[in-house]
Amino acid sequence: MRMNARPRRLRERGGLRALVRETRLDRDQLVMPLVVRPGRRVRAPIGALPGHMQWSPDTLAEEARAVGAMGIPAVLLFGTGERKDARGSRAWAASGAVQQALRAVKRAAPELVVMTDVCLCAYTSHGHCGVLGARRAGVARIENDATLELLARVARSHAAAGADLVAPSGMMDGAVGEIRAALDGAGRQDVGIMSYAVKYDSAFYGPFREAVDSAPAFGDRRTYQMDHGNSDEALREARLDLHEGADILMVKPALAYLDVVRRLKTELGAPLAAYSVSGEYAMVKAAAARGWLDERAAREEMLTAIVRAGADLVITYWAKDLARDLAARSRIR
Ligand code: PBG
Repeated sequence: MRMNARPRRLRERGGLRALVRETRLDRDQLVMPLVVRPGRRVRAPIGALPGHMQWSPDTLAEEARAVGAMGIPAVLLFGTGERKDARGSRAWAASGAVQQALRAVKRAAPELVVMTDVCLCAYTSHGHCGVLGARRAGVARIENDATLELLARVARSHAAAGADLVAPSGMMDGAVGEIRAALDGAGRQDVGIMSYAVKYDSAFYGPFREAVDSAPAFGDRRTYQMDHGNSDEALREARLDLHEGADILMVKPALAYLDVVRRLKTELGAPLAAYSVSGEYAMVKAAAARGWLDERAAREEMLTAIVRAGADLVITYWAKDLARDLAARSRIR
């Protein structure tokens, strides 16, 4: 048997495989999500996200500094545990846990890029990402335009407390433009927007909703989050957000939407984030706990696939684990 081309030649030895690898993970691509709640010295484990905690502003600042010291450039903050009301007013309180945490992180780790989730669902008594309007056919509606002004307040309060980028995640139409105008109006042209431009109505957010207590009290998020069968719509959403002033686009979840990640990268060429969400993490953790999956190999493969699909940055609950894996690998070489 004569063959000129033998693809296996490059696979036979580790060094060769490394030389021709097309996609490399790097610590510089990682963003670590962190959950903050009011209090002091709090480190409360989150059951559905093994290894993750709810932090108070003081302990969160210590954790953020540790994350930065591992070479991870950015964190993404989520708030929880505040008093809830119909409009989610604690979301924009200067005394809120997120705002306190921002100030504390900026003191503890000035180099770290700090991003904040801008949404109302963890702060509203009904758990939706916007304000409730009049019922239609017996069903309460989420008011788009009345929500925008509140999101602008949240973004301004985060910017005032030190956020580098704000990340609107509620899928309200026009949110990016409204927030851009509000930031500029407050003299915060320097604060960027990472838009959850393409966020699907997904079963993979389950563990997160437990982590921040943001499950909707009734109904679901289908009237604002995207239908998972759609990909042309993802492009329209992303184009709108770029036009409104988004600096970075995001696709969320990541693993079940790699085609969408690739499509946005190829067709728009904008900075692109992918959010490997709580359910992606939890399902691997759960299987690994039963000995059904090798967690380390599975996370490396998943995160590589997300970058291969076209993500420039990856938001992942495995950021620290991955940074550790990468450091160990570079020591071996
Ligand atoms: C808030 C928000 C959610 C997530 C991030 N921001 C939950 C939701 O839309 O219900 C999910 C994050 C994760 O699952 O890791 N709108």
